[in-house]
Amino acid sequence: MKENKYDDPVFFNKYSNMDRSKYGLQAAGEWHELRKMMPDFTNKRVLDLGCGFGWHCRYAIEKGAESVIGIDISQKMLDEAKSKTGSEKIQYICLPMEDIEFEPDSFEVVISSLAFHYIQSFENIADKINKFLTLGGDFVFSVEHPVFTANGSQDWYYDNQGNRLHWPVDRYFEEGDRKAVFLGEEVIKYHKTLSSYLNTLIKAGFEIIGIVEPKPEEKLLNTSAEMMDELRRPMMLLISAKKKQVI
Ligand SMILES: C[S@@+](CC[C@H](N)C(=O)[O-])C[C@H]1O[C@@H](n2cnc3c(N)ncnc32)[C@H](O)[C@@H]1O
Repeated sequence: MKENKYDDPVFFNKYSNMDRSKYGLQAAGEWHELRKMMPDFTNKRVLDLGCGFGWHCRYAIEKGAESVIGIDISQKMLDEAKSKTGSEKIQYICLPMEDIEFEPDSFEVVISSLAFHYIQSFENIADKINKFLTLGGDFVFSVEHPVFTANGSQDWYYDNQGNRLHWPVDRYFEEGDRKAVFLGEEVIKYHKTLSSYLNTLIKAGFEIIGIVEPKPEEKLLNTSAEMMDELRRPMMLLISAKKKQVI
């Protein structure tokens, strides 16, 4: 099932009020790490899957990309992306990423930020990306960490006083959909194990270049108790890979 939660007005408003939605990449907790994994964009053709407000599309253009196509299932997200975008080198297409079709070798770079946990099959998208990328092309993405998605509730366990006891990791090996609660709203997300992500990439013809489980930046750690709790479990998984062979 392809859920389009970001077009739900209530959810969209809540998402729009997050710091990362208002202030962009600098307010995204993982950006200090993801940025380091980004390839050289100079004169590259770039595809961004689940591009949302288009922050990474605009970053690629700022860094010299020749063109960027941003794909998103949500028209509301893309309307906002377009309103924030001045460059004609960026084209936004409203489409479930599962349905994308391009000619082989259409892009030198494919990126995706925090969107693959919304799709059921990572195999299908990895195979498509291998086809659309040129040999040696870069594939860099972030996704919610399997430790974060496994149980589904996406919340801590608390004691009677409301103290955070631990983060529940359960049903780890049971891949598939979860009714997660995000921003107080029920959202369908898909859990995959860590070995699934890695082996799928290898089978799809990619060489894995880097894997990061980002921790908050040092300067943010003392800003709140919640931020310190981010050191207790990984929330995101960042992977950079290169197309090594045609499958
Ligand atoms: C957490 S937001 C991330 C947005 C953006 N990549 C960023 O990091 O700022 C997830 C985005 O994925 C999009 N999305 C979810 N399922 C999708 C699908 N099947 N195809 C394309 N986009 C999808 C949502 O509409 C939303 O814009």
